[in-house]
Amino acid sequence: MRLLFCVFSGTGNTRYACERLAAKLQALGHETDTVAIRSDVPMPEIEGYDLLIVGYPVHAFNAPTSVLSFLKKLPEGKGMGAYLVRSSGEPSKLNDASGVTPARILKRKGYEVRGEFVYVMPYNIIFRHSDGMAARMAHALELRTDRDAVTLSEGKGERRKVNAVRRATAFVLRIEHPAMPLIGKTFHVNKKLCVGCGKCAKVCPCGNITMKDGHPKFGMHCVGCMGCSFSCPQDALRISVLNLWRVNGAYSYDAPPASDDEVCRYLHGMYVRYFHESEEIR
Ligand SMILES: Cc1cc2nc3c(=O)[nH]c(=O)nc-3n(C[C@H](O)[C@H](O)[C@H](O)COP(=O)(O)O)c2cc1C
Repeated sequence: MRLLFCVFSGTGNTRYACERLAAKLQALGHETDTVAIRSDVPMPEIEGYDLLIVGYPVHAFNAPTSVLSFLKKLPEGKGMGAYLVRSSGEPSKLNDASGVTPARILKRKGYEVRGEFVYVMPYNIIFRHSDGMAARMAHALELRTDRDAVTLSEGKGERRKVNAVRRATAFVLRIEHPAMPLIGKTFHVNKKLCVGCGKCAKVCPCGNITMKDGHPKFGMHCVGCMGCSFSCPQDALRISVLNLWRVNGAYSYDAPPASDDEVCRYLHGMYVRYFHESEEIR
């Protein structure tokens, strides 16, 4: 099969998860292409592909607005199969609501959404995990993508069930969508730290950052993906009301994976369950 991945990623998690999944699909004999969902990348042609795979991060229990806009502009699916792949910071079932609107849009466009794959990743904007947690998440990702590549190859998969309470909670939290461009407009740069390298502008998938007088200037198209803040080599960006939650820099995945006792206290039971479910795949 020829598979087309369309991927939105702010801090790189979803991109990395989709790369792992694509590598395993290739090992199963499939051909894969990947197109980034970015304002500076043209809409892909879907002619000649057998399946569409849409990757995105969970933002406030929803899909980022940039992803919804992208899906609305996709060519008609004419019955083509589709899968949703998402990464999240927490193994919460509330996140499943983030598949509802993308699936609805795809269905309206004539795609048949066959399944959803979910991966919990170590970056989040709330706190920094230990390297051991990051290593255990990476291990879980390997096990899950092994299984999911086979499921996808066989045309199987499941849609996540989302009850009315979770749908309603996610609906209310969509307030983040109109708020983000306003919050993003108030991001600013510490000019003493900024070296004007322009990495933030290059990374921004929404084209929201332009370089002016050697420093970034923020527009009104921010979706809050945090790509700019995460990728700044000088940690020079101040992300307004979200600044207390700023978590920069890469993890070392080489650490020994955290044991159950070492799993973070925050949502401890949910993380342990996610790891155990992943490890049972073997
Ligand atoms: C604005 C924002 C909102 C987020 N909301 C959620 C959320 O509701 N639930 C969750 O589990 N993770 C949430 N996260 C964490 C991301 O889903 C997670 O870090 C994801 O792996 C990021 O993927 P990316 O690196 O491809 O952008 C949020 C992150 C951001 C930046």
